[in-house]
Amino acid sequence: MKSLSVLCIHLLITAASSQLLVQLFDHDPAPQQPQQQQPLQMDTSSGPVGPTNGGGSGGGGVMLSDVMGRDRSINVFASFTRDVPAIERRLDDAAHNSTILAPRNSAIDRLPRKPWEDPTDYETLGANAYEGDDGRERAQRNLARFVEAHIVPTSPWREGERARTILGDREVWWENKDGKKVIQPDNIEVDSVASRTGNGELWIINGVRNYS
Ligand SMILES: *[C@@H]1O[C@H](CO)[C@@H](O)[C@H](O)[C@H]1NC(C)=O
Repeated sequence: MKSLSVLCIHLLITAASSQLLVQLFDHDPAPQQPQQQQPLQMDTSSGPVGPTNGGGSGGGGVMLSDVMGRDRSINVFASFTRDVPAIERRLDDAAHNSTILAPRNSAIDRLPRKPWEDPTDYETLGANAYEGDDGRERAQRNLARFVEAHIVPTSPWREGERARTILGDREVWWENKDGKKVIQPDNIEVDSVASRTGNGELWIINGVRNYS
């Protein structure tokens, strides 16, 4: 279990350091906001790199990579995106738009296993599936798949428009139900569109896609 725990520690450190950054960032120049600890209802209008809130007029220079760390309710997923180099680059790339379907931390916590674990690995390789260098790579690949399954390479993404995530598994689309966006076919509620930026939108979702 050594390498798995190394990975866990790494993820924890990443999560912790991103949290630290968020805190540093919060303490930064903006003198206002008493609302430190609130589970973040995104005050997208303040701060030095405010994403174009609401109106979404192109976002100027603000990229998805700039806003991923802002909302603590998704900081686990945000840290995963930074662990996948191709995704990290994409979210910083003005030439490639994305709609990020970021599961809340609580939805990731509710998973029956960790996002980097795959039951077929345990079936074929046994309990040591994530040990050693091979194991670490396997976990990294699985984590990349999890992240890719939650990024639609299109933005704006119109209602009803069929799309495939970067992972390229079955098609997804969304529809409005009682004033809420719902991702189909898994019926996952979109909690909010947290940010609109120059290269796409960050949606917070109340579940995790079933992509395997
Ligand atoms: C990418 O997103 C921006 C900001 O919403 C938008 O102005 C632009 O048209 C999009 N580009 C494509 C190719 O969809």
